[in-house]
Amino acid sequence: MCGIFGIITREEQTLGPILIEAARRLSYRGYDSVGCATVAAAPPGSGTPQQQRYSAGGSIDLRKDVGCVDDVSARLNFAEMRGGRGIAQLRWATFGAPSHENAQPHLDSDGDIVGAHNGNVVNNVQMRELFLREGLTVRGTNDGETCVHAVERHFDRNGNDMLAAIRAAYDDLEGDYAFVITHRDDHRLFAIKKGSGLVAGLGGGLTCISSDLPSILPLTRRIVRIHDGEIAVLAPDSVELYSVHDGARIQSEEEYYDGPIEVAEKGGYPHFMLKEIHEEPTVAGELLHLLNSSKYVGRFLDALTTPSDRPVYFVGCGTSYHACLLGAYYWNQIAGRTAIALLAPQFIEQCGQSVGPDDVAVFVSQSGETKDVLNAVKAMRGRAGRVLGVLNVLGSTLAHASDVYLPLACGYEISVPATKTFVNQAVLFLYLAYRLAGRETAELDPLPDLLARTLEVTDAAAHDVAAYLHDWDDMYYLGYGVTHPIALEGALKLKEITYAHCEGIFSSEFKHGPLSAVRQGYPVLFITAPGDEAMMINHVNEVTTRGGRAIAIAAEDPALRANVHDYLVIPEADRFLSPILLTLPAQLISYHMSVARGIDPDRPRNLSKTLTVD
Ligand code: F6R
Repeated sequence: MCGIFGIITREEQTLGPILIEAARRLSYRGYDSVGCATVAAAPPGSGTPQQQRYSAGGSIDLRKDVGCVDDVSARLNFAEMRGGRGIAQLRWATFGAPSHENAQPHLDSDGDIVGAHNGNVVNNVQMRELFLREGLTVRGTNDGETCVHAVERHFDRNGNDMLAAIRAAYDDLEGDYAFVITHRDDHRLFAIKKGSGLVAGLGGGLTCISSDLPSILPLTRRIVRIHDGEIAVLAPDSVELYSVHDGARIQSEEEYYDGPIEVAEKGGYPHFMLKEIHEEPTVAGELLHLLNSSKYVGRFLDALTTPSDRPVYFVGCGTSYHACLLGAYYWNQIAGRTAIALLAPQFIEQCGQSVGPDDVAVFVSQSGETKDVLNAVKAMRGRAGRVLGVLNVLGSTLAHASDVYLPLACGYEISVPATKTFVNQAVLFLYLAYRLAGRETAELDPLPDLLARTLEVTDAAAHDVAAYLHDWDDMYYLGYGVTHPIALEGALKLKEITYAHCEGIFSSEFKHGPLSAVRQGYPVLFITAPGDEAMMINHVNEVTTRGGRAIAIAAEDPALRANVHDYLVIPEADRFLSPILLTLPAQLISYHMSVARGIDPDRPRNLSKTLTVD
């Protein structure tokens, strides 16, 4: 996830402060690097007669670097940048390491065109090879640069027509993305949407375009939403839309946004947690695209090779540890590879003296900064073992400490409870298990749609269950086998943001002690994967015969339904996809219960998003 912003004004002016403010408002979308470009008029008399008719034949001022908005803008003095057109970009690195070359915006080969993108161009590597064969100047490895060159090569062939060039580039660029682009000798700003968010604004003497509303609202509340397959052409007083397919003009619909800016920052959701839960289908799809096209997956799998008698360790804390547990199931059951999940401090205590150069451990951390995890990395290094990373924040300490790492590609997770990053950790482990087993990863393609449908069909029931749980301060989540990690994760999320006590355990263990907690109405939630219903019915009845309330989360199963009080139905799916789907209603239950208790789920008391202490 990255953020883009573009503006065009009737009068040339100092655009720097506007670009800085827009970038700050988009900084939740990425902080690996930031850049601004402005296009200013050339001195009178310069440019060809044709250029002078359409524009001033301008010059491009491009400034960009690695770092966050305030640091880079102070260092490069964005504030003084002038022009009639401006572009800002915040980068969350996926293709290409965070570096000056990969920072956006990018120039084309001869510096006439400047543009920036958001999203993933999945045939980035092939396109770059094509550009190099054709003699274009490729400066970095980032797919935003690929968008600019894709337009450049058609611009030269299409009679210097930007609209035609963008339409032709669209046919070449695979993946989900949006980009904003302009030619210094054109008087317009162009943007296209395919999968990634894009919205335009119409102000007095200016128009602007952005990945997200918060950067537009300080300038104007008159907005035009751009849809997939549309090209927006911005002039200082108008936003025109064209179909990328046939070039036909599309009627744009202007609306007035009268909500608060804070709500816009949350994408219209009342909390970041709910917004991030609703991003899960998109980020899972983006991750699958990325894994299918990244050369790092092969390197990661190669680095996992160990003598056959050695297990591989998956190491993490909290929610990331639960993803490790699920990953270990996947690897053992799908790939026949012995994987052992351990809490980071447990890894040090249990294996810190026995691992050696033949061993490999995968360290999993959303932030890449969790001290417990970094301590375990140090212990592994001390024994000359191999260190692999799975992380969301590129440029984090774990990224630097890893021999090879894979990104979770979730964009910034703002809410303290981890939601979308857990889903992508699970997706990543499942994907790797498929690769190790030699199974077709295309079998995972339905996952984004299944996740979207799960949210749709379980939200209302999750709300009702949360209303029941509201009055209880103690409960259990039970899972069996592959759903045990989801029971642990459901319980963690519930404790974290509702302040009720909740324990997750293996369902068959319940009768070995915890069953004594059950009394009239006592809530127990049963997370069930396809194939485990018959076993789970036994465990349900141990609870219901003692007056407990059984709440099932599972795909439709009449026998299970006949035995429980409440049933949250997820869509039918493969046994290994189901645990990922089952996570979503558990997240929704804790979210709704938290809100019903008057708690802010984004900021639960006593907790921090990044734990850099022992
Ligand atoms: C729970 C949660 C925490 C983190 C844990 C590890 O919702 O967010 O349990 O999972 O603190 O954090 P990372 O993954 O950043 O190492």
